[in-house]
Amino acid sequence: MLITHGRTQRLNGFWREGQRRSLVCAALLFGLVMAPGAVMGDEFETQTADQARLANLVLQDCGSCHGLTLRGGLGPPLRPEDLGGLQVEAIAAIIREGVPDTAMPPWKPLLSPEEIHWISRQLKSGALVSP
Ligand code: HEC
Repeated sequence: MLITHGRTQRLNGFWREGQRRSLVCAALLFGLVMAPGAVMGDEFETQTADQARLANLVLQDCGSCHGLTLRGGLGPPLRPEDLGGLQVEAIAAIIREGVPDTAMPPWKPLLSPEEIHWISRQLKSGALVSP
């Protein structure tokens, strides 16, 4: 849906081999984290335990590629100044679908739309970046 900056093309043919491999690793990791029936509803915003879990996930799992302080590594840095040109919806689309032909995996099998949207807003605001 709302994909800007010409990323639509790149999102079309996702799910290549390399991604599948990283996804399997991620799936194993997330099996542990997500196992206890994480059903998210509208009340997600108010569930601080879920938010703490997601914040930890961003720093640990996303951080394994983007740097534990989100300042970049294998993947680019994810501070607000680095994401300046991307709207929250575009960031969410990238997280949801991944980036074809790169190490960035699609997260939609592992994270709900609400979770992805929450993460996108945190990245945009810099709330998870340590000073
Ligand atoms: C296996 C490594 C890996 C993991 C894990 C990973 N990413 Fe990425 N990510 C990448 C790479 C590589 C790119 C750059 C893709 C490109 O070249 O456009 C990227 C790109 C992105 C972008 C686009 C940045 C920009 O400026 O265009 C966002 C946003 C992003 N990742 C968020 C996340 C989030 C959130 C998570 C955790 C839910 C995550 N990534 C987990 C490797 C990873």
